[in-house]
Amino acid sequence: MSTEKLIIFDTTMRDGEQSPGASMTKDEKLRIARQLERMKVDVIEAGFPASSNGDFEAVKAVGKLIKDSVVCGLCRANDKDIQRGIDALSGANAWRIHVFIATSVLHMEKKLRMTPDQVFEQAKLSVRYAKNACPDVEFSPEDGSRSDPDFLCRVLEAVIKEGATTINIPDTVGYAVPEQFGEMIRSIRERVPNSDKAVWSVHCHNDLGMAVANSLAAVRIGGARQIECTINGLGERAGNTSLEEVVMALRTRKDFFKLETRIDTTQIVPASRLVSQITGFVVQPNKAVVGANAFAHASGIHQDGVIKARETYEIMTAEDVGWSANKIVLGKLSGRTAFRQRLKEIGIELDNEDGYNKAFQRFKDLADKKSEIFDEDLQALVSQEAGTSRNEVWGLVSMRQGSGTSDKPHASVVLKKNGADVKAESKGDGPVDATFKAIESVAKSGAELLLFSVNAVTQGTESQGEVTVRLSKGGRIVNGVGADTDIIVASAKAYISALNKIESKVERVNPQHQI
Ligand code: KIV
Ligand code: ZN
Repeated sequence: MSTEKLIIFDTTMRDGEQSPGASMTKDEKLRIARQLERMKVDVIEAGFPASSNGDFEAVKAVGKLIKDSVVCGLCRANDKDIQRGIDALSGANAWRIHVFIATSVLHMEKKLRMTPDQVFEQAKLSVRYAKNACPDVEFSPEDGSRSDPDFLCRVLEAVIKEGATTINIPDTVGYAVPEQFGEMIRSIRERVPNSDKAVWSVHCHNDLGMAVANSLAAVRIGGARQIECTINGLGERAGNTSLEEVVMALRTRKDFFKLETRIDTTQIVPASRLVSQITGFVVQPNKAVVGANAFAHASGIHQDGVIKARETYEIMTAEDVGWSANKIVLGKLSGRTAFRQRLKEIGIELDNEDGYNKAFQRFKDLADKKSEIFDEDLQALVSQEAGTSRNEVWGLVSMRQGSGTSDKPHASVVLKKNGADVKAESKGDGPVDATFKAIESVAKSGAELLLFSVNAVTQGTESQGEVTVRLSKGGRIVNGVGADTDIIVASAKAYISALNKIESKVERVNPQHQI
């Protein structure tokens, strides 16, 4: 008897991107999309094409690149948004239009200012419009878990009649409780007369820490056969269902769920690292599956047990999810071919020769400072290269700083502003503070520093430090990431990267905040 399949729909590049500061460039999306395809994700939601010209181009580029996953674009339930989605994706190998409109009384009254009958009509007409161009149409009633079940059933029956092939029930605000949510999905599927004509899906937020549990209950009790999720659980507020957790739960407890996914689980940790490096959202050490401690057996009793028989304390292996021991992969004497070969082996492809040349130069600079270069170093290095665009306002030329037990920390920096050198100096409460003040004295961004965090890329004191700086200005929040063996230099790079994002003034519409 063959096992039933469960569809994994990844929305890291759409819902994940809605986390403050997590917005991604086209190149970053292409890198993530390649990794998701390598991991065999069934559906990749690449973005929200109507949100900005930049996201339209990014979704289009992902659609052109990806051959082995369906590429999806989110659209509000209006013809203009949907046409934007169609224009972005119609050249793709396999594509899906995802239409949504809110159905809870609260959202209809306060946000949409529409009556239920208007929402009903709008849902129907927009699915009809999408279906005319695309056979694969998904419909989501936003705030579904707080919607009136009678109204929900009426809308869902109508959109299935119009040709929606996937019905996705979102727990938009993370309000659901597993048993109740599972029952709700079961009951709606039973009540909608044409429910067998669609695949049922769920999309859960993690505000009460139950997104994974709610998704699995919807599968087990409600019969859902698609889960929407994100790498590292990235997403608005407390995030979304974490892909790695649902996939490993389904795999480890196949005896219970009796379902299969297509996911190559050995690609999970590389995907987690990539998303963390691109967005600057650090993975907490005790995070299930992808946290640094997820497979570390610190206590003596556990170590003893694991050495005698791994199964005593491990329900899955580190290798299953793609953890590899830190391997020295390259060094100072490694040449261009070895460098390129290793990038290929760890799944990094750059767009052109210029990209490879610049990355190789960065690698040589790093190898001068650090004798052993690990895969994680290469990933950090390429993330930096990809995160730098040719027309950035600010660049770091050089810097010095001094601090000690009896000195007031001070820093001097030379920056490039639109190609010309500018110098600045400052004192501060520490070398990082002095460096940021020096940069700010010339940049005069007036941005507020929301977050400063430092992480070691690999183990040991010779590791590169990877710094995330989150800045806020005029309601916009951006993250900058920088890596270097010197953590003060890494901090300056991160600050400058965030400043450049602030300068780039890319405005995006949030799909759920506008009508
Ligand atoms: O959380 C939500 O309701 C969504 C929908 C657009 C699917 O992200
Ligand atoms: Zn969402």
